[in-house]
Amino acid sequence: MASRIFVNENGPMFFGLLASSVIFLTFVIFSSSRSGLKQAADVRQGSDVILRALQGVLVPTRSHWPLLYRAISESMHRSREKALFIPLSKLLRDCGDGSVELRDAKRTLPELLSGRAAVKGCRVCLQVDLAFRTAVSLWLAKTQCFPPTFMPKAFLANRLKSSQGSQKPGYDHIRLDLDTVPYSGLQPLIRHLQAKLPKDFFASIEFTARDAAISVLDPSFALMAVPFLSDRLAHKSGTKNNGNRQNRSSLALIVSLVEVIGLLTSKSAPLTILSVENISVARFEALDQEATMLELDSGTRSAFMSCGTLQEWREECLYLHWESALLKTGLLTRWKIIVGR
Ligand SMILES: *[C@@H]1O[C@H](CO)[C@@H](O)[C@H](O)[C@H]1NC(C)=O
Ligand SMILES: *[C@@H]1O[C@H](CO)[C@@H](O)[C@H](O)[C@H]1NC(C)=O
Repeated sequence: MASRIFVNENGPMFFGLLASSVIFLTFVIFSSSRSGLKQAADVRQGSDVILRALQGVLVPTRSHWPLLYRAISESMHRSREKALFIPLSKLLRDCGDGSVELRDAKRTLPELLSGRAAVKGCRVCLQVDLAFRTAVSLWLAKTQCFPPTFMPKAFLANRLKSSQGSQKPGYDHIRLDLDTVPYSGLQPLIRHLQAKLPKDFFASIEFTARDAAISVLDPSFALMAVPFLSDRLAHKSGTKNNGNRQNRSSLALIVSLVEVIGLLTSKSAPLTILSVENISVARFEALDQEATMLELDSGTRSAFMSCGTLQEWREECLYLHWESALLKTGLLTRWKIIVGR
């Protein structure tokens, strides 16, 4: 009896509590979903602002940005960081398939590669992601362990023959571009040159070399590898239209100026160094010109397209600009050494 009185007396109070907590909960859910919506709209707006700024460097080729760039800009807005990080492997993929393109690559790439790209107070950085770093390490290991066949005698004989024309000895010289020589072939080639360079002949030796201060483990190393790595892919797919660049080795990423000079001036028949010159400027001007022709000159473009795909054309333009930018920022240097007897 006592317990029934208890229930009866507290019944209304219990229902009152229940009702008020239901009302409270509803209010909380409603208001949090409203603030959630408001927050989502805020993030969207913030990321729109960032994406508009990004267009100073990168532009989407369709009416909307690919999801990745939306996601990156949203996370930048949330974290309130002042830098936008674009994964390198994704950027290369998207420029290749044409979903985004660099705005004025000639101007923006040197800024991007040196970490100085910024639009409206927002820094745009390339993030060397693990996927790309792994690809570079594997490629480097492969070119070192299984170098392509290289025949120094044939390589040199071709150049000697083509230079023995009508010119008078003493003014004649052979021109060697080492960029296609695998690292393992460098020493045999130079020893052969020492043995075969005729008296009164000069040899002008050109090659690209990376900034020796940057180690293989540095993220900048992967940035330097981009145009070289791509050439291997182009070579594999069998396209014949990118001339010498197609067959380049990884030499530029391994060799240093000091090493080449050391090889030329050592052993039993050392050569005399007549001059050493940094020709980066001439080289990047030539690369810029080549890129402009490929992009704008209809004849050059259709010659490329007759044996390549649209994707390969986009990549070729990008890698020409990329290599030029590496030379402009000093990550790579183009050297010319003239030697004689
Ligand atoms: C590149 O190498 C392939 C075979 O390794 C050769 O057939 C081709 O002629 C070379 N291309 C150039 C431009 O040297
Ligand atoms: C070579 O010249 C370029 C252009 O003037 C310069 O940026 C680069 O630092 C030079 N490289 C070296 C190693 O001096």
